[in-house]
Amino acid sequence: MSEHAFRGQVTLDGPSGTGKSSVARALAVRLGAAYLDTGAMYRAATVSVLDAGVDPQDAAAVTRCVGAARIDVGTEAGTELVRVDGVDVATRIRGAEVTRSVSAVSAVPAVRRLLVDRQRALVAGADAIVVEGRDIGTVVLPEATLKVYLTAAPEVRAERRAGQLGVTDPAEVAAIAADLRRRDENDSSRADSPLRPAADAVVVDSSGLDRDAVVDRVLELALTAVGGPA
Ligand code: DC
Repeated sequence: MSEHAFRGQVTLDGPSGTGKSSVARALAVRLGAAYLDTGAMYRAATVSVLDAGVDPQDAAAVTRCVGAARIDVGTEAGTELVRVDGVDVATRIRGAEVTRSVSAVSAVPAVRRLLVDRQRALVAGADAIVVEGRDIGTVVLPEATLKVYLTAAPEVRAERRAGQLGVTDPAEVAAIAADLRRRDENDSSRADSPLRPAADAVVVDSSGLDRDAVVDRVLELALTAVGGPA
């Protein structure tokens, strides 16, 4: 079948630094599918918390704040649309301030319920969609057409993240590796929707593969899931 004939949902979960976002976007383009970055939604929620001067550890205040915020994310792979109360925060959500606080905000169960409802509504509006996050196969879309869990060796992930940020100093690379470990630990050990592969997910290790090889592999899995590649 042709790539653009794909109908259904592909979930792409896994820790940061696996190349998940660039794989998910490229896959969506190849499939002619929509794309949803759920991490961007947690990051946008974090912007609303920081701007309200709320302590990210104060679950009740965080919940009130995120509940009152208007969070818009686009579902096109080619553009990054992220707005909080009408303000474009697409660049800001990638900054250190948001990255530091997003684990705490995303660990609040009421925040997760709120955003999971919005994620399901966005997915319901698309015939074909690639959704990336941490709990998409396990919690958000347990009936997805294909579930992929993307992993990579920790040192490979730290090097990739350093490359994206243009960092070469070994001490700074080590700091990035420590930050990745801290976030993995937070995301995997939280009580609500911890990071883990769904029982029926296909685990893909991207350590020795470039982006296009991973996209080809997942594309083949997606086409097979709906009746076989051409
Ligand atoms: O993928 P990312 O780095 O943009 O994700 C930002 C944070 O949001 C990360 O700490 C994990 C959290 N997250 C989550 O808890 N559930 C998701 N579905 C997506 C992201």
